[in-house]
Amino acid sequence: MSKTIKINGVDQPIDVDESMPLLWYLRDRLEFTGTKFGCGSGLCGACTVHVDGVATRSCILPVSSLVGKSVTTIEGLSKNGDHPLQKAWLDNNVPQCGYCQAGQIMNAASFLASNEKPTDAEINNAMQGNICRCGTYQRIKKAIKSVAYDLAKEV
Ligand code: FES
Ligand code: FES
Repeated sequence: MSKTIKINGVDQPIDVDESMPLLWYLRDRLEFTGTKFGCGSGLCGACTVHVDGVATRSCILPVSSLVGKSVTTIEGLSKNGDHPLQKAWLDNNVPQCGYCQAGQIMNAASFLASNEKPTDAEINNAMQGNICRCGTYQRIKKAIKSVAYDLAKEV
């Protein structure tokens, strides 16, 4: 039986060299191009996806380590781009060039899932590894805070 990884809810066969990093598998094999290549060394966060719900850098993760695991990319975060963070990103005009933003949103989504009422310091700490060469950090933080505020109101 062939090995598979569940990607955005669908079992996908690992029919590539198993040392291939997940990022290449996503972009070149499955054509999920929302996840971006930045540094290729685990340093910038552009390639962030969720592995079993946890923000993970796909550029340094061989597909062999993901057998039986569940991966979510920006394409699978919501059905119609209507995740609260995606709406907040639009409301706050967050992106500039946009290149880093899928990774930013995936990191923020994983973070908020584990901390619905973060402090400013916790947001800064959680997001500090995601680099934005356009410097959209203040708008990113504002968008995350707006979602956290809405979540807090629901409790
Ligand atoms: S491309 Fe993966 S961390 Fe930079
Ligand atoms: S919006 Fe351009 S790199 Fe972040």
